[in-house]
Amino acid sequence: MDKKFKRTTVTAALPYANGPVHIGHLAGVYVPSDIYVRYLRLKGRDVIFVGGSDEHGVPVTIRARKEGISVQEVVDRYHSLIKDSFQRFGISFDIYSRTTSRTHHRLASDFFRHLYDNGKLTEQVSEQFYDEQTGHFLTDRNIRGECPRCHNHEAYGDQCESCGATLSPEELINPYNAETGNPLVKRETKHWYLPLDQYQPWLERWILQEHKEWRPNVYGQCKSWLDGGLRPRAVTRDLDWGIPVPVEGADGKVLYVWFDAPIGYISNTKELCDAHPELGSWEQWWKDPETRLVHFIGKDNIVFHCIVFPAMLKAHGDYILPDNVPSNEFLNLEGNKISTSRNYAVWLNEYLDELPDRQDELRYVLTANAPETKDNDFTWADFQARCNNELVAVYGNFVNRALQLTQKYYEGVVPACGVLTDYDRETLAEFRGVKERLEDLLENFKFREAQKEAMNLARIGNKYIADMEPWKVVKTDPERVKTIINVSLQITANLAIAFQPFLPFSSERLRCMLALERLEWESLGRTDLIATGAQLPKPELLFSKIEDETIQCQVDKLAATIKANEEANYQAAPIKETVSFDDFQKLDIRVGTVLECERVPKMKKLLKFKIADGLKNRTIVSGIAQWYEPEQLVGKQVLFIANLAPREFKNGLVSEGMILSAENNDGTISVTTTEHEVKPGSQVG
Ligand code: 2FM
Ligand code: ZN
Repeated sequence: MDKKFKRTTVTAALPYANGPVHIGHLAGVYVPSDIYVRYLRLKGRDVIFVGGSDEHGVPVTIRARKEGISVQEVVDRYHSLIKDSFQRFGISFDIYSRTTSRTHHRLASDFFRHLYDNGKLTEQVSEQFYDEQTGHFLTDRNIRGECPRCHNHEAYGDQCESCGATLSPEELINPYNAETGNPLVKRETKHWYLPLDQYQPWLERWILQEHKEWRPNVYGQCKSWLDGGLRPRAVTRDLDWGIPVPVEGADGKVLYVWFDAPIGYISNTKELCDAHPELGSWEQWWKDPETRLVHFIGKDNIVFHCIVFPAMLKAHGDYILPDNVPSNEFLNLEGNKISTSRNYAVWLNEYLDELPDRQDELRYVLTANAPETKDNDFTWADFQARCNNELVAVYGNFVNRALQLTQKYYEGVVPACGVLTDYDRETLAEFRGVKERLEDLLENFKFREAQKEAMNLARIGNKYIADMEPWKVVKTDPERVKTIINVSLQITANLAIAFQPFLPFSSERLRCMLALERLEWESLGRTDLIATGAQLPKPELLFSKIEDETIQCQVDKLAATIKANEEANYQAAPIKETVSFDDFQKLDIRVGTVLECERVPKMKKLLKFKIADGLKNRTIVSGIAQWYEPEQLVGKQVLFIANLAPREFKNGLVSEGMILSAENNDGTISVTTTEHEVKPGSQVG
């Protein structure tokens, strides 16, 4: 760390208390921030790790409406669930509070008032949608109406989920209140704005010139916001859930959730320091230029943490600015986007219940596969492979061999190290540079590579013991085995230290198995960590295999969610334009019997049928090869259009008609048939 800093304030994005946290949150924010903070603590740095729930804004009110309970009940429920899951998972916050706390309401309110009193905010009157019957202004998400593009009647004020159009509420035809169905009118309302445009030149210098070291994804997103030109941003809303705007004449208005939430980091620090005077005043963690501020966030939060919040801090004038904002990209799940509203996720609380005592396994996989530079995918198959092939087969296997052999040959008493061979020396030498390499990677937020480096040590250990074969040497040269075991135990102790920031639970278990009082980061790389003659307790396995059934259960659970969503969202296609009876009668639909059916060479999608139509045999080609094996259809009766103009395919094949099939909502195809067998050529109508 830079010499100019004495202490570090680390924040992790405050999750909305509108649902549990999932692996996307963990991979993006909480696992990396926890690794970083654990590392700083091991280095003996002065650091606080601040978290909490974001309990204002529209998402919690939507959840309350969906579940038919009060907003307070929603935030109470999810705040405790999230807090408890983080704690069980080992996210080592110094404080995990909430934005509904009194401390926060006061501090956020004072912050606003300070900006207001110092003329840092502007006032603007604009027209917003208003429900005259309930007396409420509505946010974009709470407005619905007809999509101007596809005429779906249930498009949202910000997006049409039917055709995907991005909308503004003004574009909706006949907008209405999503909750009550009441029609809306436009009404004037006053709001306070942070004039971001005035901060543009400063932000350009501060970010683009002075923070070139920020991750390319963060720097790039900031640059594109700045290139687009900043505009004033409203920092108040017409809502009845939130922190009241502390200005006369602002009844019914609250602070915008993105104004109060980041101030939550400050309020939670205050709450922490008030309860722990040994940490000093909260102000030193936020106002002293010798404090380094680091925000861990997901990529959808970049603009708020790199542009809006810094502009707020700058406008206030008393605060330090973030020194770095390590943001990750997104984690997908089995190829699909994780979604709280669609319930498509691996929820942390469920993981902890369903795979008990496997915190480190998930931490390991989420870091190994962290979306540090691009979006990544979590699959259960990869989870199982990494646990079984890396944690169990490499790290766990090595440690277990070293500890079991110590029991077997020396009843758990650490043997003395004799004369080292060249190979011993080369192996131990690999550990010497590891501390510097790990530190360099961790200081630069490269957690994925850092963990790889630690795993590499385990590989070296595993190879050492496999090459040395102490179980063979013991028969010929028992003295030599003492050295091999001693070296292996020294490696084991190094692993416990190196993995500590990443896998705290197993490092702690390993520390106990090595009878060490503590694991000192500064000792990493040393080869005299375990004293000769020390008595080691009986070891347990450090990691156990993840069985196929466990994985299958999780895969099935996700598949069931997808199915349930498809069913819930299913809507038949709109009915086509009316046709006259005469027009309908022009179509000659008949029943035919499939005499032959075969695949078409080089045309993967096609099946070629020979159909008996009661008059002759005709050839029909149909694009359903993906859904049927040809032999499944032979002998079946199918409906087909008999008078469709023949169609010629590229390879010269001619189709004399069309087999009628139904397309299911998941895109699968089902051929139509008759309920009873009828004569080939029977007319359908
Ligand atoms: O995106 C989110 O989940 C927000 N609740 C993050 C807020 S971070 C900070 F500003 F509090
Ligand atoms: Zn649409």
